Amino acid sequence: MRIGILTGGGDCPGLNAAIRAVVRRSIDVHGHEVYGIRDGWKGLVEGDVYQLSSSDMAGLIREGGTILGTSRTNPYNEEEDLKSLKENIKKFKFDAIVAIGGDDTLLVATKLTEDGIPCVGIPKTIDNDLSATDATFGFDTALTIAVEAIDRLTTTAKSHHRTIVVEVMGRQAGWIALHAGIAGSAHCIMLPEFKMSVSEVVGLINKRKEAGKRFHIIVVSEGAAIGGDDSMVTQDESLDDFGNIRLGGVGKYVGKEIGKQTGDEIRTVVLGHTQRGGSPTAYDRMLATRFGLAAADYVNNGDFGKMAALKGNEIVPVPLSDATSELKLVPAELYELAKTFFS
Ligand code: F6P
Repeated sequence: MRIGILTGGGDCPGLNAAIRAVVRRSIDVHGHEVYGIRDGWKGLVEGDVYQLSSSDMAGLIREGGTILGTSRTNPYNEEEDLKSLKENIKKFKFDAIVAIGGDDTLLVATKLTEDGIPCVGIPKTIDNDLSATDATFGFDTALTIAVEAIDRLTTTAKSHHRTIVVEVMGRQAGWIALHAGIAGSAHCIMLPEFKMSVSEVVGLINKRKEAGKRFHIIVVSEGAAIGGDDSMVTQDESLDDFGNIRLGGVGKYVGKEIGKQTGDEIRTVVLGHTQRGGSPTAYDRMLATRFGLAAADYVNNGDFGKMAALKGNEIVPVPLSDATSELKLVPAELYELAKTFFS
């Protein structure tokens, strides 16, 4: 078999570990050929493809980013692109495509499968918002980075008796903010799923002050629903190929508003892409490897239109379409539990 492999959407730690597992299993165990497609679906539209070998995979398990490159290209936006993509699949004689990505990349894989192109998916995203799998790799690393940052910010906030607002990633789903906020012992967490106004945050800070507490850590998800008259804070109006708006700036806004309402000196820290960079944690290396091994087996067995998913402790095949049918959001019960520590 000739297998094409690509990574699409935002990069995340663990992508190289997943590529390595697909390549090693497909070549060393199943005896197939594997071709790297550069920069996500864009590489398949442009025919930017090269053959991979097992020895190319040396040392990759610990490397951040993706050796294949990535993009947010949606070939379904332009008829010509889709035509070129299909022609290239024929030209390179691909029997299967392994797509590693989040909801957008996997949506394309789902549509291509419906169009008769055999695809297998591997879920990745630091946002952890794919409903068809219990976990995605990238999330644990992003969380570890965010918690370490909050720990460090806590000691400086304590020394200066300051409020520090920490903005973390998470577009529609607040998993990073929720987990990092709880694990980092934040005093308030603002999520995309549940509205919380700046006045409510100030109310919490004032209560802490009355109790003699002199520093406050507020974790804000970049897509936080800040409620009241305020809407989602965005960097600009531009959309990517999949219609996603560029978020960012909510931390600064919340910090400024808290400053206005309290008269305190506030500091804001935006963790941004540091959460996506660097070496994956051992957990993410393992999860990515298990997904990659399973995906290679699905391809070998002709089990197309499937995505490798974690259910409990098992890796199981689920329909690709399930991966993109709905986003996994933070449930209200969990947020209520987190509020135990909002004081
Ligand atoms: O989807 C992953 C993610 O990191 C989101 O949390 C974030 O909003 C977005 O990607 C940022 O995308 P970009 O790298 O294109 O700025």
